[in-house]
Amino acid sequence: MYRTHHCNEIRKEHIGEVVTLSGWVNSTRDHGGVIFIDLRDREGLTQAVFRPEESEEAAKLSHTLRFEDVLKIQGRVADRLEGTANDKLETGDVEVVVQTVEVISRAEVLPFQLDKELSNEDLRLKHRYLDLRRPRFARNLQMRHRVSKATRDFLDEKGFLEIETPILSKSTPEGARDFLVPSRLNPGKFYALPQAPQQYKQLLQVAGVDKYFQIARCFRDEDLRADRQPEFTQVDVEASFVDQADIVSLVEGLLARGFKDALGVDIPDSFEQLTYHTAMDTYGSDKPDRRFDMKLIDVTKDLKDCEFRVFSGAVANGGVVKAINAKGFADISTGQIDKLTQLAQEAGAKGLAYIQARDVDRKTWRSPFVKRMTDEEIEALRTKLNIEPGDLILFAADKWDAACDVLGRMRLAVAELKNLLEGNTDLDFLWVTDFPLLAFDAEEEKWNAVHHPFTRPKLEDMDKLEAGDYANIRAEAYDVVLNGNEIGGGSIRIHEQELQQKMFTALGISDEEQEAMFSHILTAFSYGAPPHGGVALGFDRLVMLICGEESIREVIAFPKNNKGVDIMSDSPSSVDFKQLRELYVRSVAKEKKTDEQDAPNS
Ligand code: AMO
Ligand code: AMP
Repeated sequence: MYRTHHCNEIRKEHIGEVVTLSGWVNSTRDHGGVIFIDLRDREGLTQAVFRPEESEEAAKLSHTLRFEDVLKIQGRVADRLEGTANDKLETGDVEVVVQTVEVISRAEVLPFQLDKELSNEDLRLKHRYLDLRRPRFARNLQMRHRVSKATRDFLDEKGFLEIETPILSKSTPEGARDFLVPSRLNPGKFYALPQAPQQYKQLLQVAGVDKYFQIARCFRDEDLRADRQPEFTQVDVEASFVDQADIVSLVEGLLARGFKDALGVDIPDSFEQLTYHTAMDTYGSDKPDRRFDMKLIDVTKDLKDCEFRVFSGAVANGGVVKAINAKGFADISTGQIDKLTQLAQEAGAKGLAYIQARDVDRKTWRSPFVKRMTDEEIEALRTKLNIEPGDLILFAADKWDAACDVLGRMRLAVAELKNLLEGNTDLDFLWVTDFPLLAFDAEEEKWNAVHHPFTRPKLEDMDKLEAGDYANIRAEAYDVVLNGNEIGGGSIRIHEQELQQKMFTALGISDEEQEAMFSHILTAFSYGAPPHGGVALGFDRLVMLICGEESIREVIAFPKNNKGVDIMSDSPSSVDFKQLRELYVRSVAKEKKTDEQDAPNS
């Protein structure tokens, strides 16, 4: 028997009992020849002491112990000496006086210390099995388990069936690149790993399943960031005979259960809803962080005749002028202004106009253009933006969507520079609704689906699809946002064959392509399809926020690094030529590399 208790279980009431514990040596201390160790397992720590008068043999062995050796100890639970209790440990009132010890496994010196933060993430990921020994990750993995358990319990109670769908599947146009898998049995053909189980869950509604869910692995070959992995997990949900309000309240209930079961926290019963237009117009983002104010203020009318051409010119071109007041930030350094300007330019802005309002008198204001403004214009700004001494005002003059987007980014950048969210523990949930159905991609010169091609246009806007007025169609689509993170999104779907064909046509998918890529779903809709809709929550992002982490990599057991590489197992890796031949695949990676090296200016 390896254990009678785990390492965070022993309390004063166990004093006098003989217990057996197994775990890792978390630390060792030598007090005048007597060795104290903290023994660690998943649950926590217990102090063990090796006294020669209790066992000569154990005490002798204790001098050879090193960090992370694996031990089994047996001993009696004792009160700690007066004044040596450790109130940071739940087991801090007691210790185990060791009678026998068995060294199960010895540990080499570790590549990094487990009790120190390590900024070299690659080193952490290379030895992920060590990294995960840290209490913080033990807690994160437990939290993840608790949230998935809460999800299953909640959805089961609501009558949802958990159903698995294929991993070797067919390309779904969710907007990212597919990962492809060559088929040995079908030479020259490929499976795609699912970007989401979107079509399968809709087909399950045609099949009469009515209420489906899956904690589903999704695969997307896209550029990675702190909140994106090439494979990630969704709580994927779909139901028949539902409208938007049904899905909204289901998700609110599900999140409430998750936060309660994982953190013991009560969240609001229902979340505020903002339309996409309001969210963009007010916060410059479709996933606004409302934990700080700094709203976007429209000053188009006030500056339309301004002598400063950046403003009046933009208005004359049908654009807008918007501004934010970064309160108390007039002392921003030139370097910081340059950094913000660069960020704005990277987002497509021509520049970043600003005013450093040092004092009440406009003569004290530092700004490249203030001298060209009339007193009326200044007064209008003062009132609308509530300018007080010490404020910094940032402007964007452009088409509405571009101006909102840039200021939205400025808002977040200022919040970061000013540490506005430090120590903030608010949980701000909201829904963003009424997304546009389609967005024009100027590079590709075509319309793309904002959510995906199966999303339903709003009834009121249905005739615009017919009329080709694609820019103004709103979708029956919604995202759920927590503290500026998109934690989920979904929609009511198209369930009519003809409407689905029209949608594909709007996306520039020809009849032949529709037949080749989507005949299964189009045909299914011809055999009696129920109205249906659903949602998918980004499970990793949700758990990240519950754990208070800043990257989803901290809540995934074996994540990829930001180049999509698992450095622990060195994957992706080269494969044998024979393996490729069996798959009818030839690698041109080498040729491609040489091409790139040879090409001029590359
Ligand atoms: P969507 O593409 O919005 O919708 O994805 C749903 C949620 O999944 C999370 N997410 C990601 N998390 C980590 N890494 C990624 N690369 C990643 N991409 C997305 C986000 C997002 O809100 N089939 C639809 C859902 C539906 O319509 O029902 C879908 O996949 O939190
Ligand atoms: P300029 O007169 O071009 O030197 O620009 C004066 C200021 O306006 C600089 O701070 C620019 O960064 C800024 N600016 C230029 N174009 C825009 C724009 N479209 N929106 C906001 N600020 C701008």
